[in-house]
Amino acid sequence: MNTTFDMFIETEVPEHVEIISRTDLGGVITYANDTFAKISGYEVDELIGKPHNIVRHPDMPKSVFADIWETLGRGKSWQGYVKNKRKDNGYYWVYANVSGVYKNGTLVEYKSLRSPIDRETEIKMQNTYDALRKSEEKSSRVVLYVTEKQLEQIEKLL
Ligand SMILES: Cc1cc2nc3c(=O)[nH]c(=O)nc-3n(C[C@H](O)[C@H](O)[C@H](O)COP(=O)(O)O)c2cc1C
Repeated sequence: MNTTFDMFIETEVPEHVEIISRTDLGGVITYANDTFAKISGYEVDELIGKPHNIVRHPDMPKSVFADIWETLGRGKSWQGYVKNKRKDNGYYWVYANVSGVYKNGTLVEYKSLRSPIDRETEIKMQNTYDALRKSEEKSSRVVLYVTEKQLEQIEKLL
C-alpha cells in the first residue's frame, strides 16, 4: 500500500477575538466580521453570499453538521468544536455557538460566535472526530500532530 502525507498549517485563533458570522435560514452567509475573514484567509466580500460550507474541513464528520441543523430545527442553540478549512487549505479550530436570530418572535437568520480552544482539547477532538469519521465513512485518513523538530526527523527518514 502506498502511503502519502500532506502537511497543513494551523492558524491559531488568538485569545479575546471573536469570529462572527450570520447566515440566512439555508446556511448562506449574510454577514462575516473582519476577524472571520482574517482567520479563514478570505476577504469579507468573498464570504458573503456563499454557503457556510465554504470553510468546511474534510476532517469534520457529517454527523456533527446533522446535529447542528437538527438542533437549530428544534429552536435550540448548538455548541461544539469545529475544525474549519482556510482558503489556503490550512485549518483552524474553534469552539462555536450557533443559534437563531429572531425579529418580533420570528426566526429570520442564524448566527455563530466562536472562541479559541487549547491545544490539548484540539488534539482530543481531532481523535474523536477521526473515530467518528471512520465509523461513518470508512475513512482511512489519519491525522498526526507533529512539532517542527519531529517533522525534521520524519523528513530525514523519507
Ligand atoms: C450560523 C451558522 C454557522 C455555521 N458555521 C460553520 C462553520 O464555521 N464551519 C462549517 O463547516 N459549517 C458551518 N455551518 C454549517 C454549514 O452550514 C454546513 O452545514 C456544513 O459546513 C456542512 O456542509 P454540508 O451541509 O454541505 O455537508 C454553519 C451553519 C450555520 C447556520
